Amino acid sequence: MKLSIFGTGYVGLVTGACFADVGHEVLCIDVDAGRIAMLKEGRVPIFEPGLREMVVRNAEAGRLKFSTDAPAGVRFADLIFIAVGTPPQHNGSADLSHVLTVAETIGEHIDGYKIVVGKSTVPVGTADRVEAVIAAAIARRGATHAFDVCSNPEFLKEGSAIEDFTKPARIIIGSEKEAVRKKLQECYAPYNRNHDKLISMDVRSAELTKYAANAMLATKISFMNEMANIAERLGADIEEVRQGIGSDPRIGYQFIYPGCGYGGSCFPKDVRALAHTAEEAGFRAELMEAVERVNNAQKGVLFRKLEQAFDGDLKDRTIALWGLAFKPNTDDMRDAPSRTLMEALWEAGASVRAFDPEAVTEARRHYGERLDLSLASGHLEAAAGADALVICTEWKQFRVVDFAWLKANLKSPVIVDGRNLYEPEDVRRHGLLYYAVGRGDSV
Ligand code: UGA
Repeated sequence: MKLSIFGTGYVGLVTGACFADVGHEVLCIDVDAGRIAMLKEGRVPIFEPGLREMVVRNAEAGRLKFSTDAPAGVRFADLIFIAVGTPPQHNGSADLSHVLTVAETIGEHIDGYKIVVGKSTVPVGTADRVEAVIAAAIARRGATHAFDVCSNPEFLKEGSAIEDFTKPARIIIGSEKEAVRKKLQECYAPYNRNHDKLISMDVRSAELTKYAANAMLATKISFMNEMANIAERLGADIEEVRQGIGSDPRIGYQFIYPGCGYGGSCFPKDVRALAHTAEEAGFRAELMEAVERVNNAQKGVLFRKLEQAFDGDLKDRTIALWGLAFKPNTDDMRDAPSRTLMEALWEAGASVRAFDPEAVTEARRHYGERLDLSLASGHLEAAAGADALVICTEWKQFRVVDFAWLKANLKSPVIVDGRNLYEPEDVRRHGLLYYAVGRGDSV
């Protein structure tokens, strides 16, 4: 099949590469000429395991092409995916201008029947707006062309995006039209083997499914962080509690890890956008508001623990920070807990010596060169001679550490662990003070 994909960000690029990999002919369109030039040279602008190889392999085979020519993108295929960004606006609502610009382009250049597939995370009702924009643009040309708009939200996770796309838990198709569902079924067939993962529903339910899934996961995390704060004050260990509740299959072990708060490009934005959409529809989503409030407070927990360890005086201290990315296997620092911590530390007059295996360039992009931020080339180098160590991301290489070395090399024996990586006893045995999240006497 021939497919056009608008937007070569995370979702668009993974979608394009994975579809090309099973033999579809894919044309990826982006307005960012620099990005397209990079992709044409086989350079992938995001860090995602396996993606570069997949892009190069399919580009070399001629099945995956990149262009800035949007009209050509409209004409190229009958199936047009919209996978452009929907960044948050000040009031929390999603900015749909990129999505609607693509709709406008489709209306201006449509030359036959097209199915327009919404892949970007968009508020409920967006498919209807896309349809109206395309129809108006066609009418302005005095033309008549048939088209359908459907919703096919993406559920991929950064760091395991290829795996999520190629082995999906579900493929949601939001369209009432049988012919549209059939066409998408055909498109996804190579990734829909063994048992049918396709779930068809109306457009609005599909759009809401995306938000509901992320909101549920974010709720689980804020719930656990709240429990951790309670456990900490009651002398209980949240890690024991986690296993105790996870063993109930109705609760499950996944996504109940307490920590320093969720970040990334999805949960913070989607929880806020859902609350905003609900409010516009006349309903106050109090749980969503609470999930966000709890998360924002949790991002401040590491700073408060450090303050406590140093009796409120962090001025001129150097704090070693392990992990800048919002989670392992990505270089993404959007809404990362590390940023809340660093900004609070700078405000308090401390400096940060950070290490992250992938996010160093991102850190420079966000903060530029500044005297109170240095970026180390290894985690031990970051810790050597620092006043204390804080862990924000659970990269694998932080899991096994030589505590005796840390005791000898940290100026004060303080470890603040935002990801509960170690057994408190193991750390304390070496004479280190260990502040974890929700672990008994760690307050
Ligand atoms: C999330 C969803 O998991 C995907 O299903 C969804 O498709 C995606 O958003 C999206 O909307 O595009 P992602 O943001 O890549 O994916 O990252 P997650 O792996 O879900 O992690 C999100 C945050 O939650 C991270 O900061 C992580 O550290 C935190 N987290 C996760 C916890 O604090 N505890 C947990 O138990 C799990």
